[in-house]
Amino acid sequence: MAEVRATNITWHEGHVSGEDRQKLLQQKGVTVWFTGLSGSGKSTIAFTVEHALVERGHLAYVLDGDNIRHGLNKNLGFSATDREENIRRIGEVAKLFADTGVLTLTSFISPYRKDRDQVRKIHADAGLPFVEILVDVPVAVCETRDPKGLYKKARAALAEGKGMGFTGVDDPYEAPTSPELVIHNDQLTPQEAASQVLSYLESKGLIPPLKG
Ligand code: ADX
Repeated sequence: MAEVRATNITWHEGHVSGEDRQKLLQQKGVTVWFTGLSGSGKSTIAFTVEHALVERGHLAYVLDGDNIRHGLNKNLGFSATDREENIRRIGEVAKLFADTGVLTLTSFISPYRKDRDQVRKIHADAGLPFVEILVDVPVAVCETRDPKGLYKKARAALAEGKGMGFTGVDDPYEAPTSPELVIHNDQLTPQEAASQVLSYLESKGLIPPLKG
């Protein structure tokens, strides 16, 4: 776990409360954390949910693994240490977004249980809701889809005796033991999967039900 390295720093409390922001935005922030294998459909579902939420008049935003690795996390690769740091940073960013009042959707493989649990903890400590969603698709199905051709590359690297540390092929994925929601995404359309997420958020009072 990352330690605070700086010395001589003091927490400065602002004058605007979470409730003030809720009143302003007419919503309460939440982090909806999608986890699952590459090719399981996390990003597609997250962007479909984001669109649906905005259409309903809510401020929502997706933090997406591949996208964030183009910017904020461009200095990180796929070693265990880098993946841990990737998730630590995004966990902190998601917490800030949720604290702002945004319906925050994250789409990262986030393969290690302890890293996701740590993100859950920082949300709990801040009194912010955290919803972990497992996008569950067998690795064989993800591999058949292979939208980016990366499973093929990983298998080829393995055959050459090198390996590339690709999740599900030669790097581990630790599924959550008690996620808030599991989406079995091998037979669903993005809309069907998204509506499972929206129904869950409604059932927990995290968004209001659709009127009419
Ligand atoms: S995580 O493991 O640190 O959570 P993240 O979600 O940010 O990963 O990025 C995963 C994406 O990076 C995959 O969808 C895939 O497009 C790409 N990628 C490239 N190399 C790897 C690898 N070795 N393992 C997994 N994904 C990889």
